[in-house]
Amino acid sequence: MLSHMFSFISLLSRNVADFLWSLLQYIPVVPSLLLTQKQQQVSFSNRKGLECISPFFCSVEETSQAIPTKIEGHVPTWLKGKLLRVGPGKFEFGKDKYNHWFDGMSLMHQFDIDDGVVKYSSKFLRSDSYMANSRNNRIMVSEFGTLAMPDPCKSIFERFMSRFEVPKMTDNCNVNYVVYKGDYYVSTETNLMRKVDPETLETKEKVDWTKYIAVNGATAHPHYDPDGTAYNMGNSYGKHGSNYNIICVPPQTSGSDDSSLQGAKVLCSIEPEDKMKPSYYHSFGMSENYVIFIEQPLKMNLWKFITAKVLGKSFLEAISWEPEHSTRFHVVNKLTGQVLPGQYCSEPLLFFHQINAFEDQGCIVLDLCCQDDGGALDVYRLQNLHKAGEALDQAYNSVARPYPRRFVLPINVDPSAAVGQNLSPLSYTSATATKESNGKVCTLCTKGCYRGYRLCLTFPYCAELALHVVVLPTNISFAPTCCSCQAAPCQKKM
Ligand SMILES: [Fe+2]
Repeated sequence: MLSHMFSFISLLSRNVADFLWSLLQYIPVVPSLLLTQKQQQVSFSNRKGLECISPFFCSVEETSQAIPTKIEGHVPTWLKGKLLRVGPGKFEFGKDKYNHWFDGMSLMHQFDIDDGVVKYSSKFLRSDSYMANSRNNRIMVSEFGTLAMPDPCKSIFERFMSRFEVPKMTDNCNVNYVVYKGDYYVSTETNLMRKVDPETLETKEKVDWTKYIAVNGATAHPHYDPDGTAYNMGNSYGKHGSNYNIICVPPQTSGSDDSSLQGAKVLCSIEPEDKMKPSYYHSFGMSENYVIFIEQPLKMNLWKFITAKVLGKSFLEAISWEPEHSTRFHVVNKLTGQVLPGQYCSEPLLFFHQINAFEDQGCIVLDLCCQDDGGALDVYRLQNLHKAGEALDQAYNSVARPYPRRFVLPINVDPSAAVGQNLSPLSYTSATATKESNGKVCTLCTKGCYRGYRLCLTFPYCAELALHVVVLPTNISFAPTCCSCQAAPCQKKM
């Protein structure tokens, strides 16, 4: 009973606050002040005495022969298959060191699960980047946070001129395994993917998106329909700036020559708020009938991208957090490719991974793992991740805390709905969808509005890119029994 009362008081106070908030929007000078105040409500941690995590970001050797693992918990005997993961596993060549977590060479991991036993093996992706770096014992290809320096053996003039060469795109696919037409690939966010053998972890051919479709890259987090149709998103760049594109790759047909990305098409193009400053996105949402693109205020300055090499800067330095922009949601019908006329927005937020999206009672419910501040990419520089003691505490506490958030987007916005009206009929979430005076629907989610599965952000083993939020019914972890840094795996619950 008491808990009901607290819930009611909490709900009441939240509604009163929302009501006062909506009233204040009508005072001309107040919104900008409020925006500033709201931006200051970013939640940061205040952790002290954090354990050094440097071993998770050190180079490891590949484990080409499968080894037994130490299992904590119980793996059901009926569970059989191979769990594939990929992440950065090598952070230097010769005297050259990478600057950022996302730059490390792609290491593919395989957990072979059979009859309650798990065996582990790993192999480095033999990408063109990895092979060139290995051959020359230095970093030859630029990565996200590291600019490859000119060959020191070249003359001063040649080194100067090499800055004006078109930068070579990396095929260091260290983000995720993806499947198109039944074939397995590892992917990053450039135009290049590498096909791999999921049984042997051998590197196979390189696949270039630009050979099939007018996009300059795609995310490493596509979604799939039950029939195997894949949906992804990628940007295209031209003389008039950029576009966001929703891509559809059909499932495999019976034809023997139907492979790779053949038949891929752009389902829909969306103009960025600023065509020279498109938003960065790492994933997007998809429900049964709709693709949901989240345009967050983490901006990629295309001028800075173009001039990065000449100015001796990395791609990372062309990305900036601009919280003066709101977050915009674009909803696209998967069947027709039409963008829904409703305009949806929310407070500035940073997200990398969508958690879930589904349709209910005429609304799309979208769950994201969000932060209120966009400084995370900077903090993931290796110099920060290798810190210890107070310096590590300081770096950790400088990143806004991530929260799972729920957003409600009404599919059909009633034009006669009153300004200030909450258009969400969903009783199980306090996330609101309020019609504003400018016709937009502002969807807001307080930090407690998400109820759902337990979430785990896992760091299963050394040097894995551990950004991926995994929804698990139980916690089972298995770690290789031999690993060059011997660091114990840890799990961090959110
Ligand atoms: Fe990811």
